[in-house]
Amino acid sequence: MSKIRLLVCVVFAALSLSSISQAFVDDEACLMCHKYPKMGRVDDDGYQKAYYVIPEVFSKTVHRNVPCRDCHYYIKQLPHRPVKEGVRCDRECHSIENPSTGKPFSHKSIYDTFKKSVHGREKLETGLDNDKPYCITCHTNPLYNEEEEAPPKKITDRCVVCHEDEKFAFKWYNHTSRRIREVKRDTQEIVKLCSRCHADQEIIDRHKEDADQTGREMGEKFPIAAESYQNSFHGKVAKYGNKQVANCLSCHASPDNYYMSVHELRPSRDPMSPVHKDNRVKTCRQCHKTADASYAAIDPHPTHDKELNKFNYYAEIIYGIVGNVALAALMGMALIETIGRKRDGVSWVLRNGTTWRRRSRRKRK
Ligand code: HEC
Ligand code: HEC
Ligand code: HEC
Ligand code: HEC
Ligand code: HEC
Ligand code: HEC
Ligand code: HEC
Repeated sequence: MSKIRLLVCVVFAALSLSSISQAFVDDEACLMCHKYPKMGRVDDDGYQKAYYVIPEVFSKTVHRNVPCRDCHYYIKQLPHRPVKEGVRCDRECHSIENPSTGKPFSHKSIYDTFKKSVHGREKLETGLDNDKPYCITCHTNPLYNEEEEAPPKKITDRCVVCHEDEKFAFKWYNHTSRRIREVKRDTQEIVKLCSRCHADQEIIDRHKEDADQTGREMGEKFPIAAESYQNSFHGKVAKYGNKQVANCLSCHASPDNYYMSVHELRPSRDPMSPVHKDNRVKTCRQCHKTADASYAAIDPHPTHDKELNKFNYYAEIIYGIVGNVALAALMGMALIETIGRKRDGVSWVLRNGTTWRRRSRRKRK
């Protein structure tokens, strides 16, 4: 493959450092170069990569207090060496301490949970594991409290009464207020996220084939998970914008510890899964307060596939026959009635609305 290395717009001569006011500290002057829009290149696989960081935006994100090299630990010199693995989300921050433990901060506990889940993988994988989502497949670097320009003065003024320093008040207000709010993605966002792969026929086929060949277990509904959700009552209502209706994670993650549980998705055959048959009543009861075992047995991934659901398969055929017979019978009766009346000399004309006119030859009404 031809190696294209296009460096766009890195204008070293025109550096001006003073103009931008930054809310975070750029100790290592990474932004000296990386603040320039359009900085990027086309990588070896032909993808356009952006190498710029917009200071005004970065300073409003959840990671704004993390120095660049706590994440980009592999950047050690200029010009930078080629990058192999990139950023891993289980590393320890050098500069940020977890105030509750006094240890360097890290996402390792989430990572360890995630590693044991159905999606567990390393940052770099090859083969089938490379189809699974990594942290950055699902997460970007989200903004704090997107909808607010600045923390409400009414609240921070009160903090300043005691804490004196406005910056301290802003920082803790942003941190805490985002976490007490509901920041869950809504139903449609979750369905879209999971469907990226669970509706991708190539990924599905690859994994189904491997499971068949190696004889490992795989959920019956794996091949049709996203498609069948769309056919379910929940999926149909979700399409019309209902946000209360169950999305993938309302059933597959536990509501008791949602933010950790979304990272430990298990297959339905695992007794710890909220969709394991022993736990389904409890899972449905989150929303359907009166659900019992027979309600919970209603298939949330309905299909008419003969192999997967014999009842639905035959029910559809029988409903089809009954429906067609009824329709044919109705039309037949209307036709016979019309012929009969015609033979009777009663014709159908449009006058003062629609109606049958003229008296019957056989003197009938
Ligand atoms: C003197 C300018 C300059 C400074 C300062 C600088 N960089 Fe870069 N950086 C570049 C250029 C130019 C590239 C593109 C290199 C390439 O395409 O081979 C780059 C690329 C990168 C990449 C992408 C590497 C890849 O191949 O995927 C990362 C990550 C990065 N820089 C992080 C940093 C961090 C973190 C700092 C601060 C410690 C920093 N840079 C400081 C000029 C700079
Ligand atoms: C919380 C961790 C984190 C922090 C802090 C962070 N980055 Fe990144 N950055 C990432 C991740 C993750 C990627 C995606 C590429 C990867 O997975 O390695 C990325 C991508 C990049 C890229 C593009 C490289 C590529 O391979 O696509 C550049 C350039 C970059 N960051 C520069 C910076 C600069 C400059 C700062 C400081 C202002 C910074 N980053 C702060 C995590 C971080
Ligand atoms: C009446 C005075 C008072 C007000 C008002 C007040 N605080 Fe505090 N705050 C304190 C005191 C005293 C401490 C330290 C003692 C303690 O832990 O109870 C503290 C501790 C804290 C800490 C822990 C700091 C650390 O490093 O351990 C945070 C964070 C904090 N306050 C944020 C806020 C925020 C945000 C507001 C406004 C919404 C606020 N405080 C309003 C008096 C106040
Ligand atoms: C399959 C998608 C997916 C993957 C992979 C994933 N997450 Fe999450 N994560 C979520 C969802 C969904 C939430 C719940 C909040 C939301 O809806 O955004 C969440 C929540 C979080 C939160 C809490 C955010 C907050 O503001 O309370 C953190 C931190 C987090 N994830 C870190 C990670 C890390 C680290 C990894 C990699 C080990 C990872 N996630 C992998 C989907 C994912
Ligand atoms: C980046 C692609 C990707 C995304 C996004 C993704 N998955 Fe997966 N998922 C996979 C792959 C690949 C497998 C593994 C299949 C295997 O075992 O070979 C899998 C496995 C599963 C399994 C277990 C299947 C079994 O029978 O063992 C469940 C359940 C699951 N995913 C649910 C979800 C949910 C819910 C979401 C959305 C929050 C989601 N996935 C998002 C790719 C993805
Ligand atoms: C109302 C609850 C519910 C919703 C909503 C739901 N699922 Fe499921 N899911 C289940 C149950 C129960 C099973 C086991 C069904 C069976 O095997 O008959 C299952 C099975 C699966 C499987 C097969 C692997 C396994 O664990 O058996 C995958 C993959 C899956 N679901 C993904 C998804 C995705 C992706 C979505 C969203 C598009 C979703 N589910 C929405 C309840 C739900
Ligand atoms: C996050 C909440 C939530 C969860 C969890 C949930 N549902 Fe629902 N479900 C809804 C909502 C909302 C509706 C729409 C109710 C309406 O408008 O009639 C609905 C509708 C239904 C319907 C359509 C008929 C009816 O009774 O209204 C069925 C069947 C159903 N759900 C089955 C299940 C089953 C089985 C489970 C457990 C595996 C489950 N649901 C879990 C929220 C949920």
